[in-house]
Amino acid sequence: MELIEVIKKRRSIRAYEETPVEKEKLLQVLEAGRLAPSSLNEQEWKLVVVQSREIIEKLYHACLEEAYVKEAPVIIAACGTKPDYAMRCGQRAYPIDVSIAVTHMILRAADLGLGTCWLGSFYEDKVKRALGIPEQIRVVAVVTLGYPRFYPQPKGRKPLEDLVCFDKWK
Ligand SMILES: Cc1cc2nc3c(=O)[nH]c(=O)nc-3n(C[C@H](O)[C@H](O)[C@H](O)COP(=O)(O)O)c2cc1C
Repeated sequence: MELIEVIKKRRSIRAYEETPVEKEKLLQVLEAGRLAPSSLNEQEWKLVVVQSREIIEKLYHACLEEAYVKEAPVIIAACGTKPDYAMRCGQRAYPIDVSIAVTHMILRAADLGLGTCWLGSFYEDKVKRALGIPEQIRVVAVVTLGYPRFYPQPKGRKPLEDLVCFDKWK
């Protein structure tokens, strides 16, 4: 599929089929994350890929008990492994680096006919406990992955002129 078609097709999926995700497709999604750019190409991130129903049940409780979290056959916790590093611009690199990797993955998933939902609504301490993630690591995103039970209507976006200005701030 053309990249723009994938971008248009992707939407947050909050209902999943029981069908498992084939290992080959899962690896293709993870590979897209691996290829993401990162600050200084440090790649200071790690993905915890969860397929165990028992652990997914724990993540469901850590993610405000959203039903679709329990339905998803795969959940990925995307973590920053060097949370103290800040770039010259003052921004910490880890949420940005991790978010780019997650964006690569959710687009690749859409390309493969899979659905994802990016979750920021989770209790980080509970996610870390469920997955045995060390204290110093930060969990940036929890992502559900699986075959969509249905595709919601696309959500609207602001027009380009509200989001962009040329040459000077307007
Ligand atoms: C950083 C981030 C955090 C999000 N957190 C949640 C969340 O906790 N729960 C949820 O249902 N959707 C979450 N979403 C999905 C957004 O609600 C969704 O992307 C947005 O409404 C646009 O819809 P679309 O993804 O279908 O285009 C999150 C998305 C992003 C990028």
